[in-house]
Amino acid sequence: MNTEILEKLKKECLNCRRCELGITRTNIVFSDGNPQTAKAVLIGEAPGENEDKTGIPFVGRAGKLLNEFLAKAGISRDNDLYIINTVKCRPPKNRVPTDNEKAACESYLLKQIEIINPKILIFCGATALRSFYGKKTAISKIRGEVLELKIGGEIRKCIPIFHPSYLLRYHSLEEGSPRNLMLKDLKKIKSLITD
Ligand code: URA
Repeated sequence: MNTEILEKLKKECLNCRRCELGITRTNIVFSDGNPQTAKAVLIGEAPGENEDKTGIPFVGRAGKLLNEFLAKAGISRDNDLYIINTVKCRPPKNRVPTDNEKAACESYLLKQIEIINPKILIFCGATALRSFYGKKTAISKIRGEVLELKIGGEIRKCIPIFHPSYLLRYHSLEEGSPRNLMLKDLKKIKSLITD
């Protein structure tokens, strides 16, 4: 049963001191969503203050905006997604995680992806994209494209999307605006995960 393997992995993370973030964090932020029903794995950047307090990814301002967009696209956060971040512990002052911190956490991430074996991986923002996609293409150029990448030994379908904290700065829903493109990308994901 995949939930048992995930619980075991979570226990390992609770004692993890592979990098300094394990010392400064309050809680590890392991995942959210239903591992039994998830069709997509969404990978964010890193836990922030609210996530560090609660142990749940995307619960702050950006998370609430993400929830709104998911609902508009008909994607259920609780049933369709399994949500993780490039690192399980909050970087101090919400800085971007370093390459070393991401590398220290990578095996947990890959194991989670392998266990869920989703139809598609969603790279939510530039940090998640950079973790898996070598070329330095801007997220604004590549978002919405379905990429086929070798991840953990398997070729997987992946789609980059904007990070919701970027959308907090742009309010327009006009054609071609960041919010308009985010909704289009999420609707595309909805169609890709719908049987
Ligand atoms: N931003 C992220 O990338 N992940 C979270 O969990 C919260 C905010």
